[in-house]
Amino acid sequence: MTVLVTGGAGYIGSHMVLALRDSGERVVVLDDLSTGHRDAVPEGVPLIIGDVSDQALVRDIVAQHGVSALAHFAARIVVPDSVADPLGYYEANTVKTRALIAAVQDAGVGQVIFSSTAAIYGEPEESPVSEEVPPAPINPYGRSKLMSEWMLADAAHVLPLRYVVLRYFNVAGADPQGRSGQSTPNATHLIKVACEAALGKRPGLSIFGTDYPTPDGTCLRDYIHVTDLADAHLRALAHLRGGGDNLVLNCGYGHGFSVREVIAMVKRVSGSDFPVTEAPRRAGDPAALVSRADKLPGLLGWKPRHDDLETIVRHALEWERRRA
Ligand code: UFG
Repeated sequence: MTVLVTGGAGYIGSHMVLALRDSGERVVVLDDLSTGHRDAVPEGVPLIIGDVSDQALVRDIVAQHGVSALAHFAARIVVPDSVADPLGYYEANTVKTRALIAAVQDAGVGQVIFSSTAAIYGEPEESPVSEEVPPAPINPYGRSKLMSEWMLADAAHVLPLRYVVLRYFNVAGADPQGRSGQSTPNATHLIKVACEAALGKRPGLSIFGTDYPTPDGTCLRDYIHVTDLADAHLRALAHLRGGGDNLVLNCGYGHGFSVREVIAMVKRVSGSDFPVTEAPRRAGDPAALVSRADKLPGLLGWKPRHDDLETIVRHALEWERRRA
């Protein structure tokens, strides 16, 4: 009963590997190390360096390691990058997902946990946004993920396949024990960027847009601790193993913080008053993206342990210091 984790050398995938290992599960990682790091995979966990769409390789891994479930994290995830390279994103996030699902199906694996994104909601009119709101992505990244969601749903009608789709909101923080964190070079995510600025790894940061229809004029986001997110995946796995139905679930806490609030928290926790400038809006940023968050706790019994912006920032900073 091994779990195949694609993208297990990356930020979120490596936290899933830790969570699985901590709960006594057998894990095998498939990662091409394009953005992931060998060091992020704990000792004793097999790391296969390869492409998720290499169907012969995937079938071999399933057979050799006794894989019974797939957690598919490997993807390209930067919104502006997807606008610049749409075909690259459809290839990485849609075409390769199709090949991977077909290969694990051929090899007899019928349980899939799929990393999706709040970007499939686009610029939702309601906030918090529930899973029932019709998807309306506004960039190739969101569309490439939504197409994979649809592909899974269509395939599950006719194949012995059950899945849980998890739509991540703004993932941040790091393993509380300091074993993993976000190592992405040239990161663009707010908390990561602010932590780097606080530690002098970059000169400062810009707030992208101060004229949004929000209380302080900056965007609101639902920041979720990466360890709580990994725990949601463990519960999804238990659900599938128990014969549970296909699910599509938001992963967020249900409350938002503005860009200014996040920056103020990073300044307070780090004790560093790094320079902040105000800049024009960034293309494609919705004003507010906050999860309606009752379904995940209700259906999977998920109980977040780090629903606290200060804790998220503290863990992110601790990781950033360790990498100094
Ligand atoms: N921001 C700044 N300055 C920065 C970086 C970010 O002002 O230097 C702002 C952004 O404009 C946005 C907010 O901080 O308003 C959050 O931006 P991030 O880049 O951290 O994250 P996004 O909300 O753009 O996107 C992230 C993931 C997506 C996912 C989305 C879901 O990258 O994959 O969260 O909410 F879909």
